[in-house]
Amino acid sequence: MKNILITGGAGFIGSNFINYLLSGRDDISIVNLDKLTYAGNLENLAGAETSKNYTFIKGDICNCDLVEYIFRKFDINHVINFAAETHVDRSILGAEIFYRTNVIGTNVLLEAAKKFNAEKFIQISTDEVYGSLGAEGLFSEKSSLSPNSPYSASKTGADLMVLAYHHTYGLPVVITRCSNNYGPFQFPEKLIPLMIINALKGKKLPVYGDGLNVRDWIYVLDHNKAVELVLEKGKPGEVYNIGAGCEMKNIEIIKLILSILDKPENLIEFIADRPGHDRRYAIDSSKIRKELGWKPVFEFNEAIQKTVEWYLKNNVWWEHIVNGQYRSYYKLQYGESLSK
Ligand code: NAD
Ligand code: DAU
Repeated sequence: MKNILITGGAGFIGSNFINYLLSGRDDISIVNLDKLTYAGNLENLAGAETSKNYTFIKGDICNCDLVEYIFRKFDINHVINFAAETHVDRSILGAEIFYRTNVIGTNVLLEAAKKFNAEKFIQISTDEVYGSLGAEGLFSEKSSLSPNSPYSASKTGADLMVLAYHHTYGLPVVITRCSNNYGPFQFPEKLIPLMIINALKGKKLPVYGDGLNVRDWIYVLDHNKAVELVLEKGKPGEVYNIGAGCEMKNIEIIKLILSILDKPENLIEFIADRPGHDRRYAIDSSKIRKELGWKPVFEFNEAIQKTVEWYLKNNVWWEHIVNGQYRSYYKLQYGESLSK
């Protein structure tokens, strides 16, 4: 039996992962430790809450007493660390919480995993640790670490600590580095849900800079399957890139969303660029494909359509957010005019 501590399981990717894992298997038990920051939402986990194999604990991964209590009480033998501060723009406004959760919090989890002899520690990292690409080339696991934002620097710090625990103490760690995810339950500060919701509300769609920055998109369920494979077969000490080979310019995605929703392109508004904005991300995921037999199954045009439909159907989910905490963030960043 795998007794898995999943952290950050009330966020976008973590909740999709828990819902996915609980629907497919009964040889696992999950403890979800989540601080419920602005990005954590238990509504994402309505299905999971009825499962006998699932326990939710509200708490901070930086709290070592709590983390050790959970290891002891639930006989934890696997860790999957999704918990993080994740939004680049927020990290530009204030880096400290990123350092605290992403670096110190990861270290607390590593210490507990070492103390309780965990069989596997999976660190959910990001392609942003590699920095930015020019027009050509892909990030491979051997690319140098060259983070540019406080967010990506904190994720890089965590990755280095995770690898150090493998080299120094033999902790069986695995790191995954995935590209940009999209799908249900993504907090509407991120590009795709923000654009869908603004378009639905007839608000302007703020495009940073020239809109030609490139991201490599993956549907969240494809990411979930990759993490499950890493849980089963990932080799200790290894890093696996995860990506679906779907590079898109931001402006292309925004125009596609407008066309799916049948909304006019004059909603688009070019605004000041994000400071230090990475130009292009693109992932070489051949290692996980070859070694673990993973491949993405969702095609972008269909999955983005499904995603838009999800936000159309689940307006209560996002209206609650947009009318609550999210509004004040929006005001902070773009000023009163766009938040009304
Ligand atoms: P998210 O912001 O939607 O969710 C983060 C979750 O972590 C929230 O539920 C939040 O409450 C929780 N959390 C934050 N601080 C915590 C703390 N100190 N203790 C306990 N819980 C805490 O994030 P996401 O987009 O689901 O990303 C999940 C992970 O995947 C992150 O580690 C992120 O770096 C990584 N990642 C994300 C993407 C992406 O496109 N979203 C791509 C690659 C990697
Ligand atoms: O690459 C993986 C990373 O993807 C994850 O590690 C991060 O946690 C996740 O937030 C995401 O980071 P990005 O910065 O790429 O995602 P974001 O949705 O913030 O922005 C995507 C692109 O869209 C980026 O080039 C900035 C641009 N953008 C974003 C917003 C929110 C805009 O032009 N306008 C916007 O309003």
